[in-house]
Amino acid sequence: MTTPLSGWFKERVPIAGDQLREMTNEPVPNHLKRWWFALGGTPAYLFVVQIVTGILLAIYYKPAPSTAYESVRYIKEEASFGWYIRSLHKWAATFMIAAVILHQMRVYFTGAYRRPREVNWMVGMCLLICTLGTGFTGYSLVYEQLSYWGATVGANITSTVPVVGGFIKRLLLGGDVYNERTLSRFFIIHAAVLPVVIVALVAVHITLIRLLGVTELKFEDEPPGPPGHFNFFPDHLLTELMIGLVLMIVLSATATVFPATMGPRADPLVTPEVIKPEWFFYVAFRWLKLFSGTAAVLSMGLIVFMMFAWPFIDARLRKNNPQSEVSVWIGIVAVLGITGLTVWEALVAH
Ligand code: HEM
Repeated sequence: MTTPLSGWFKERVPIAGDQLREMTNEPVPNHLKRWWFALGGTPAYLFVVQIVTGILLAIYYKPAPSTAYESVRYIKEEASFGWYIRSLHKWAATFMIAAVILHQMRVYFTGAYRRPREVNWMVGMCLLICTLGTGFTGYSLVYEQLSYWGATVGANITSTVPVVGGFIKRLLLGGDVYNERTLSRFFIIHAAVLPVVIVALVAVHITLIRLLGVTELKFEDEPPGPPGHFNFFPDHLLTELMIGLVLMIVLSATATVFPATMGPRADPLVTPEVIKPEWFFYVAFRWLKLFSGTAAVLSMGLIVFMMFAWPFIDARLRKNNPQSEVSVWIGIVAVLGITGLTVWEALVAH
């Protein structure tokens, strides 16, 4: 039935119901009913939480060495629900990084990066790096001891990259050492540059998923024949909404029970006994301690390059033996290695 209001709207936004259904209602393979295949939606949810809570924090945050620490203290102790918003922002960052890693693991171990999805894997790698970069720059904003020294150590590590390292360090710090211009740079990278890049990358990521469809997988407990499908709308959307709801409850409970704390204010003259980055950089930090200077940075660069190029390396490895499971074994070794180095760094002071 066309009411005057819907008629008015249809004339100005001429999209027919079937066109809308066609756009939103892709049949998705049955395996997406298993929740771990819907893990890609989780970082997207958490990213929205980050934008909303980040905007609220930015109302009070003042990105200069003389004001940053006091403004965070004000948010934590005086602004209404400031402690809660700040804790949500901190925990959602941790959850988002964990979700991206879990999603990448599921894509890896199901071989969903293989032809024709190589480009989307590389878009995903860019998302991983931007997410980690947002975490790093966010950690530096509080201007507590570890923020200051973490940023200083990070910038010094960057400067060991041959040829461009010195330039990137100066670009990042706004000078040769941490100075009064540094914090506003970190803030702009954290709150404007990286979020915009992430939005653009997610748009490309989702467009490619829509164009290529998700990988068709078949499990032993399914009936014989080609893989079955179900509707994206409303069935899969309801799965995603359920995951989102549970996630928001867990996030809110975690933020309430374990609110974000603050360490001592940054003192450029006193190097702390122990300097640690956030947990998601423990693996890189331990690696840098194991191998020194440029060798460590170059070998890490090579590993990241191989991660980007993995779909092509894997295609080479499987060329003569398509059933080969070597990628699974490499994946298991990588996961154990990353976990081992992370736990090692977490357990020792130096
Ligand atoms: C902010 C981060 C990310 C978001 C929001 C995101 C979102 C999504 C969504 C919604 C899907 C659909 C299937 C699913 O839910 O699992 C998906 C699939 C995919 N993602 Fe991501 N993703 C992110 C990061 C990554 C990363 C880090 C990688 C790998 C390096 C990656 C590689 C892929 C690939 C190859 C697919 C296709 C899987 C298939 O065909 O089964 N994504 N992503």
